[in-house]
Amino acid sequence: MAEKFFLTTPIYYVNGQPHLGHAYTTVAADIIARLNRLMGKKVFFLTGTDEHGLKIQQTAEKLGISPKELADKNANRFKELWKILNISYDRFIRTTETAHVEAVKYILQKCYEKGDIYKGHYEGWYCVGCEEFKTEKELLEGNVCPIHKKPCEYIKEETYYFRLSRYTDKLLEFYEKNPQFVKPEYRFNEVKEFVKQGLKDISITRPRNRVKWGIVAPFDENQTVYVWFDALTNYLSGVGYPSPEYREWWPADLHLVGKDILRFHAVYWPAFLMSAGEEPPQQIFAHGWWLVEGHKISKSLGNVIDPFVAVKKIGVDPFRYILFRETPFGEDGNLTRERVLNRVNGELVNEIGNLYSRVVSMAYRYTEGRVEKTDALPFAGEYTQLTGEVLGNYLKLVEEFKFHKALEETLRFAEFLNRYIDLTKPWELNKEGKKEILKGVLYLLTDGLRILTHLLFPFIPTSMERALKVVGLEGLQNFTGLKPLSLKTPHRVGKKENLFRRITEKDLTFIVKVEGKPGEEKMEQKPEGTEFIEFAEFQKVVLKVGEILQVEEIPKSKKLYKLTVDLGEEKPRTIVAGIKPYYTPEELRGKKVIVVANLKPKKLMGIESQGMVLAANDGENFSLLTVEKSVKNGTRVS
Ligand code: MSP
Repeated sequence: MAEKFFLTTPIYYVNGQPHLGHAYTTVAADIIARLNRLMGKKVFFLTGTDEHGLKIQQTAEKLGISPKELADKNANRFKELWKILNISYDRFIRTTETAHVEAVKYILQKCYEKGDIYKGHYEGWYCVGCEEFKTEKELLEGNVCPIHKKPCEYIKEETYYFRLSRYTDKLLEFYEKNPQFVKPEYRFNEVKEFVKQGLKDISITRPRNRVKWGIVAPFDENQTVYVWFDALTNYLSGVGYPSPEYREWWPADLHLVGKDILRFHAVYWPAFLMSAGEEPPQQIFAHGWWLVEGHKISKSLGNVIDPFVAVKKIGVDPFRYILFRETPFGEDGNLTRERVLNRVNGELVNEIGNLYSRVVSMAYRYTEGRVEKTDALPFAGEYTQLTGEVLGNYLKLVEEFKFHKALEETLRFAEFLNRYIDLTKPWELNKEGKKEILKGVLYLLTDGLRILTHLLFPFIPTSMERALKVVGLEGLQNFTGLKPLSLKTPHRVGKKENLFRRITEKDLTFIVKVEGKPGEEKMEQKPEGTEFIEFAEFQKVVLKVGEILQVEEIPKSKKLYKLTVDLGEEKPRTIVAGIKPYYTPEELRGKKVIVVANLKPKKLMGIESQGMVLAANDGENFSLLTVEKSVKNGTRVS
């Protein structure tokens, strides 16, 4: 019986449209699925959408539609994109499906019965973008999420905890026994380091009155399940859990994820599974992130790549090809116009597309499209040796996820065939006495195209399906049986066709070049002239001189002080400021600072902050803004 291979992509949030990052993980999974099918394995490829949680609830609220409507709309967008990208998934799971909801309740109940879930309360900073509580150490400027660059919400509420702390040693032992569990290895080391520091229990439910859009916890109807617990369970429910058929596929052979969500997969997920009495997955691969022309991709910079547009402009396979051609899978990549232009025109059009055209044209010109095997096969030894080498290397490289190297080998093979034409000069062989050699040359070249089509197929299946027809092949063979000089004859080549279109700079405007050096985007993003504001607008901000009277520590906070500041008003104000790492209370007392006096009050660590003190931070030095002479408290700064 064929060996099974179960692989997954993350399930994508439906609060927005699919972007380059989503396309990247899914195309990678598609390549792996296709490779494994070609190697004769029985593959199950699972993808889908993550539809619950605060992020989706809030986006839907903003749009004035229901979360389900939002989910339906965007889940369809993902499905459309996978169709365009020729993704060969077997199942598209949505976490709002009843069967999934039941599976989540079932597994959670199992953990509960195991004694791994207990009631408590939670207090801390929550980033809705990440759908994750953050530690103060991770936050910037007191409460800003380092990934989303937006302030987190301070939340204090009842919750159920999962006893993750119980699994520190079990996980370390599991990692020890499964050295291939996480790839690349350096990322596995990061995971181990994190676990070695000791794991804390994690909150896995949310009060239903705050997060309505979620699965109701089986043990408390006033709580909904934390979206990550819900989402991770898709890997089981997607193959039928808890009905016994899931055992045909579980444990998953490979979870493919981006580096940003590795911890959820390599730490939390195996712990949940151990608790529920299920085996952890076999392997997790974490890939890197894409930059565009050296800059981080972000909505505010306007350099988000819409895969629908990219495919329209350059074609589906060039798009898939450039994502895997150059950047080692696992590392961060940089998408640039120049690279896309060179790879597509230089390799797909010139090296590969041309080769197919040349061979098929010659077959028509010299032998009416017929290909026969003869004994006269120039350079047959070299060809056989190279093919063996390339196939061997290729299979080893894809097994190690070194897709860019596997494509390098593939190009080496195409180059050989191109050189073979230049060397044997078929146009000089079309004469009496040489015709047998000409036939041999055409046979070898057609056989080469057969092999080349297989090597390229997992990466660029749409063009290679057409290539099969061009070469005159009925279908693909199993990789393991792929041998040089085994094309069956008599053979007829198919109809000549240009497999790839040459692209120009004009096709590449979807790759937006942001002005300025990376990291300076904020200053550079707006075109000249638009960065000015009216004086009246500036006047809306009321800045005043205030004197710091008192400085108090806030329990459990490493960054914040509670300041009492005199603004010349009836009562001094309370201001919470993230300046603890830079000043001692003694240094602060009596200091005259500049305060934004009309900022809407906000609760930080449970304390209402009635303003903000201004400071400058260049990364090395942090300095509060003060006044040079002793102006009266409450004086307006203008
Ligand atoms: N819903 C969760 C995953 C739950 S899995 C049980 C989630 N969804 S997501 O919509 O944010 O998409 C996640 C995937 O997109 C991740 O694998 C992430 O790494 C990938 N990418 C997002 N931006 C990216 C780039 N700029 N480059 C490459 N991939 C990136 O997280």
